Amino acid sequence: MRRLIEHDAIEQRVSELGAELSEIYRGKDLTVVGVLTGCMLFMADLVRAIDVPHRIGVVHASSYRGRSTRPGELALDTQLLPDIRGRDVLIVDDIFDTGNTLSHLVEALQSAGPNSIRTAALLLKEGRAEVEMRPDFSGFTIPDVFVVGYGLDYNDDYRHLPFIGALDESEL
Ligand code: IMP
Ligand code: MG
Repeated sequence: MRRLIEHDAIEQRVSELGAELSEIYRGKDLTVVGVLTGCMLFMADLVRAIDVPHRIGVVHASSYRGRSTRPGELALDTQLLPDIRGRDVLIVDDIFDTGNTLSHLVEALQSAGPNSIRTAALLLKEGRAEVEMRPDFSGFTIPDVFVVGYGLDYNDDYRHLPFIGALDESEL
């Protein structure tokens, strides 16, 4: 595995994002909604870097199936979503690839009556977007390679790694 982004760099960037978000959401009724399962490490660090009061919720989305690195059919599950009516929502995901997950989630959450919805992705993969929207906040722009670690998986492995690594063709 080729190491792409070390933990120190992630920590540094997450604290910058937290500071920026704290200014934007000061005095607002913020709910941070994480997209399971990939958001877990980023979300846990990001909410600790946001120093204004907020609530936390989760939804589940999956598009990658097993050993495939290509997106499959998108499945969204919003059963665990808390009440976001009138609240300012920040959706947090690990990576913006084709953009289908975040664009569909924004649409799905609109019907729950939030005051605003913004999106944050730790990683933004270059040259892959299939939708018009882009995340309002992103940590790092990366080339079109398959990455794992810090929440991201390949066939459910590697999520626990504290850094982001790129898998070679031979490892996929
Ligand atoms: P999108 O809907 O194509 O933007 O994909 C978003 C989801 O696909 C992310 O939440 C990840 O779960 C997964 N994904 C996309 N690219 C990668 C990758 O390089 N490694 C691991 N998971 C990925
Ligand atoms: Mg995901």
